Amino acid sequence: MTADPAKPDVRPADPRFSSGPCKKRPDWSADRFPTAALGRSHRSKTGKARLKRAIDLTRELLGVPDDYRIGIVPASDTGAVEMAMWSMLGARGVDMLAWESFGSGWVTDAVKQLRLDDARVIEADYGALPDLSSVDFDRDVVFTWNGTTSGVRVPNADFIPSDREGLTICDATSAAFAQRLDFGKLDVTTFSWQKVLGGEGGHGVLILSPRAVERLETHTPAWPLPKIFRLTKGGKLIEGIFAGETINTPSMLCVEDYIDALEWAQSIGGLDALIARADANLGVIQSFVDSVHWLENLAVDPATRSNTSVCLKIVDPAVIALDEAGQAAFAKGMVSALDAQGVAFDIGAYRDAPPGLRIWAGGTIEASDLQALMPWLQWAFDTQKMSLKQAA
Ligand SMILES: Cc1ncc(COP(=O)(O)O)c(C=O)c1O
Repeated sequence: MTADPAKPDVRPADPRFSSGPCKKRPDWSADRFPTAALGRSHRSKTGKARLKRAIDLTRELLGVPDDYRIGIVPASDTGAVEMAMWSMLGARGVDMLAWESFGSGWVTDAVKQLRLDDARVIEADYGALPDLSSVDFDRDVVFTWNGTTSGVRVPNADFIPSDREGLTICDATSAAFAQRLDFGKLDVTTFSWQKVLGGEGGHGVLILSPRAVERLETHTPAWPLPKIFRLTKGGKLIEGIFAGETINTPSMLCVEDYIDALEWAQSIGGLDALIARADANLGVIQSFVDSVHWLENLAVDPATRSNTSVCLKIVDPAVIALDEAGQAAFAKGMVSALDAQGVAFDIGAYRDAPPGLRIWAGGTIEASDLQALMPWLQWAFDTQKMSLKQAA
């Protein structure tokens, strides 16, 4: 009988590698939050000032141009994306880009829910980007900057012309604060606090270019809009939304948590530092992947590899020989073993994605924790492989 694989000596100091809600910033503590805005009206002077502070810091950190509006809206990133789609689409044809589960969700919205007459779907399988040169930017375009469930991102916004006629609506939830967003090419940008900054779910951020505002003020959708989607009144933008007067009641505790994350980000050097941390984290994972025969990045082209939601597939011949259920069981076995050891939580591939691992690498994660995790991946693989051999 063969001995069980030896466990590595070092454990990650923090086993939280989930792709959302993501790990909180180093040294996070709820005790740090200012409490003056809690337990009272979000429309008080104090409450509005905190909401405004969250907006101002977002602008500063992400480098959002002064003439773009930033609003805090209901229902997390999904709320922000759907609010934009429901408010703006239908004025012209739309190209819907999808290369993983969330992008596919926006396709469903356009085709099956809004039932747009002129929606063209441009797709690719998990691991690749669709043919971006086939996108027609005289139409509106909806896309996800970083596909969280495949770990495939657009490398930059060069594929988007500056002189486009249509609007670009970009779900940037797992990209914002880890990848450089080119706002000149983005008319609508959305994200949630629960991702790269390790904040809370429930609130979305909606960033609008002047052209997006123009669309809102000149286009009336052919369908009714619920109150939580309404960004205009009497054909004019409701400016208050973009100054902290939220449509409905936000969680001020979540707002304080977001401000705390933003101030931490600022204290370590802002966006450049956040990007550098995420890049270094991807580097740790990719070096390990390159050093073993049994693991590959799901993103085939290195330029498209996410530095936040890093998706990995197991390519060992004995595992590939299994059917899809067998491959999923193998990956799940690894994930469960790592969870049981308390070294990695929530690192299984997303439910709609091919079987494998998904490890978060955004800026709140410490490279040292990823370094400590890598030998454990080997341990979990060896352990599962041994069970596979014993079952054969
Ligand atoms: C690319 C993408 N879009 C949308 C969502 C949905 O975000 P939320 O649950 O914050 O609405 C997620 C969540 O993981 C995501 O990764």
